[in-house]
Amino acid sequence: MVFESVRTDRGCVSYLIGCTRTSAAIVVDPELSQVDRYLAIAAQQGLRIRYLLDTHTHADHFSGVRPLARRTGALSVMHQLSPAPFVDLRVEDGETILVGELRLHVVHTPGHTRDSICLIAPGHLLTGDTLLLGATGRTDLPTGDAEALYESLFGRLLGLDGLLRVHPAHNYKNLPPTTLDEQKATNPRLKPRDPAAFVAMMRGLSLEMPEHLTEALRTNQTGGKTVAQIIDEAAQHIPFMTMQELRRRIESGAPGIAVLDVREADAYAAGHVPGAIHLPRGQLELRADAVFPDPTVRILAYCEFGKISTIAAATLRTMGFRGAIALDGGIRAWKEAGFPLEPTESTRPPSRS
Ligand SMILES: [Fe+2]
Repeated sequence: MVFESVRTDRGCVSYLIGCTRTSAAIVVDPELSQVDRYLAIAAQQGLRIRYLLDTHTHADHFSGVRPLARRTGALSVMHQLSPAPFVDLRVEDGETILVGELRLHVVHTPGHTRDSICLIAPGHLLTGDTLLLGATGRTDLPTGDAEALYESLFGRLLGLDGLLRVHPAHNYKNLPPTTLDEQKATNPRLKPRDPAAFVAMMRGLSLEMPEHLTEALRTNQTGGKTVAQIIDEAAQHIPFMTMQELRRRIESGAPGIAVLDVREADAYAAGHVPGAIHLPRGQLELRADAVFPDPTVRILAYCEFGKISTIAAATLRTMGFRGAIALDGGIRAWKEAGFPLEPTESTRPPSRS
């Protein structure tokens, strides 16, 4: 059996488990930023990824299941209560997933979320966010339930073989894995107490809301794309120009490219790249033909930070403007570098704020 863990800087942990006899593999809780890494590990180990499993609906990071499924053809697996419409294989408590000759047993452990599951692999227990090393998952996010978590921990997990090694979906302090027995002896949340005391303890935790909570729930529940994914995909389809190159061209008096400011009117009026044409992103598709009657024209789009202009340039390319590119950076950095603006500081009307 191959058992590899991949940990991100933010403490998310995912696992690639492979059957060496058949070369089939599963990735548990893949994280969006690590998609190439799982593919690289599978290739290095001679494994073919067959299944992609989320132990629950993640609220604090972006699942890599959808992009990995597109690239591998693997099936996505979640508990039957998962709200995600794209799940191929919905599993329930007591069922077994066959990964080649490996058998992974599903234990439904609601509490952190309603759709949380743990997986028992030979010698290993993948606990998702139900049981962490020295802690448990929180129960104050959507579908969380402290009473259900009590039952999942004390009624289910602690009854399993104590020699199983515990592998959670988060390991913020990069602690080494321990056995279930060791967790039972040392994890303060597993101290024997009655359900009411456990619920009171969980409700008394005052935890900050995760960053990107709504974006993570939106993308993980629907299979939609993150904002960063949309920008990254646009960036893959266009070239860029550095600020230094654009400045050199402007100062030469013959830039050889139409400079397009896609910000809102007041931002444009407050100072723009000399000679820039104004066409806000919101009107781009509707007015592009009027502004650029020649589709072969070279166009350089820019915005405040360089993100919206990336999408704008990619949109122009899909419309047939094959010479559309974006500024590498935004006008914020342009200003900070002391590069020329129009109108100049002295001729600019006073700002409205
Ligand atoms: Fe979670």
